[in-house]
Amino acid sequence: MERERWTSRMAFVMAAIGSAVGLGNVWRFPFVAYQNGGGAFLIPYLVALFTAGIPLMVLEYGLGKMMQAGAPTAFAKVKDKLEWVGWWAILVGFTIVIYYAVVMAWCWGYLYHSLFLSWKGRAEDFFYKDFLGLSDGPGKLGGLRLPVVVGLVLTWASIVWIVQHGVRRVGKVVMVTVPLPVILLAIFVLRGATLPGAMEGLKFYLTPDFSKLAEPRTWLAAYGQIFFSLSLAFGIMIAYASYLHERADVNNNAFITALANCGTSYFAGFAVFTVLGYMAHVVGKPVAEVVSGGPGLAFVTYPTAISLLPTVPAVFGFIFFLTLLSLGIDSAFSLVEAAVTAVHDRWPISRRKATWLLSGIAFLGGLLFTTKGGLYWLDIVDHFANNYGLVGVGLAESLIVGYVLGAERFREHVNMDSEVKLGRWWDFCIKFLTPAILGILVVWSLAREFGSPYSGYPGWALLVGGWGVILLQINLGVALMSRRAFLRASLPASASLVAFAVLLKFLPPMWIMFIVASAVLYGGLAWSLSRARRGYEGM
Ligand code: PHE
Repeated sequence: MERERWTSRMAFVMAAIGSAVGLGNVWRFPFVAYQNGGGAFLIPYLVALFTAGIPLMVLEYGLGKMMQAGAPTAFAKVKDKLEWVGWWAILVGFTIVIYYAVVMAWCWGYLYHSLFLSWKGRAEDFFYKDFLGLSDGPGKLGGLRLPVVVGLVLTWASIVWIVQHGVRRVGKVVMVTVPLPVILLAIFVLRGATLPGAMEGLKFYLTPDFSKLAEPRTWLAAYGQIFFSLSLAFGIMIAYASYLHERADVNNNAFITALANCGTSYFAGFAVFTVLGYMAHVVGKPVAEVVSGGPGLAFVTYPTAISLLPTVPAVFGFIFFLTLLSLGIDSAFSLVEAAVTAVHDRWPISRRKATWLLSGIAFLGGLLFTTKGGLYWLDIVDHFANNYGLVGVGLAESLIVGYVLGAERFREHVNMDSEVKLGRWWDFCIKFLTPAILGILVVWSLAREFGSPYSGYPGWALLVGGWGVILLQINLGVALMSRRAFLRASLPASASLVAFAVLLKFLPPMWIMFIVASAVLYGGLAWSLSRARRGYEGM
């Protein structure tokens, strides 16, 4: 059967931009920039964009277009045994959409509450106590929050409605959901700019602190932000590009998508910081004391600022949550699309059935995050998915294309039909620079992880929601490739890893050294002796 196609180049590019431009552009970028040197952050950010973001985007587009398949099949076409890397990417993305949809469910709830400005005067208590009914810790789930479940149903209904009809429907929807949030953000920029205190806020956002450029963490933050923001390493861009014609442009589309996304992040910073500057002005505090990022910004700080607006605050509240919903929806369905494409490419199941099946599973999984303890789990899973899942898949991708497929060969292939030709610098980025940076990111996160448990959560919760989920994703990825590989390789490997971790935890250091040294020395000796062949005298 003929593969589905985008109706136009524009539809493809808009869909890719829609996936990249999400909640992170509003609640992550401005805050990360502010924390890492303000205006000076733009330097590492742009360096990261051109040395890792765009090169990996070219890689994903090129792979999808070249293989005409979603991530698992595309990697299998590189080498049979690599199919699991594609599944791993899909599973990390699928995990993300499970909770991303829950954040969107909160937005639905707040869209309703904005009509009455229900949070007025007590935004923090309203969000955590009234709305989420947050429990004392991840150990207390304490029942579902009905309003959040309703929001989750709305989110999944929208996703199913769009994805089940394939990229033709996606291409139409993004013509609305991509420009809409940008226009709505512009309303906030204009409103914010005309408020007292706006300049003060912008000063915080953009005043460069060049001393931060000397800190490695600033650079790591820039690379981390770029990878997450461009929706790389979840098989999304591979899936989207697989519906391109074989002779479509790759390189220039990657430049357009990446620059449009980062331009939107930068623009969103103006909407955030002018309004926060105004809020600081009203409550008479320095801007530094009111800024925040993540859900805290979207559901506590910014709503507070909105409730202080001099005219029609409820209207602005409504517009704000509509902005978040329209930002999030195309990122959410791109994650589902990646999974549907993967399943539909691999098994004889219709796209419609695959969509319903996967959405059903994700909805049920999402119920965990709609409980009173849900926010804790969301935070844990998110932390591990971004710090290890994303980074691990990105590392595997660049190594596979760089060395197995061959960077030079791949570049010649994508250059053939592209409006912008890439030079050797691309090979360098994919073979050395990107893997090196991602490698450093993993080591750095691991060091922090073992230094102090993430956010002070109890160890068991991090084991289940963090390490457990990572192991599950990898093992399931291998199992989806082949049962044999799962039983013979990934299962024993994971079991030994777990056993080793348990030993590390409970054995005194003396015994650990005894076991490790004995295994290496005598085990190694036994292994090499077992391979030795009888030789002739003197050989
Ligand atoms: N890129 C999106 C953002 O910036 C988030 C996202 C990550 C979406 C991964 C899909 C996949 O918000």
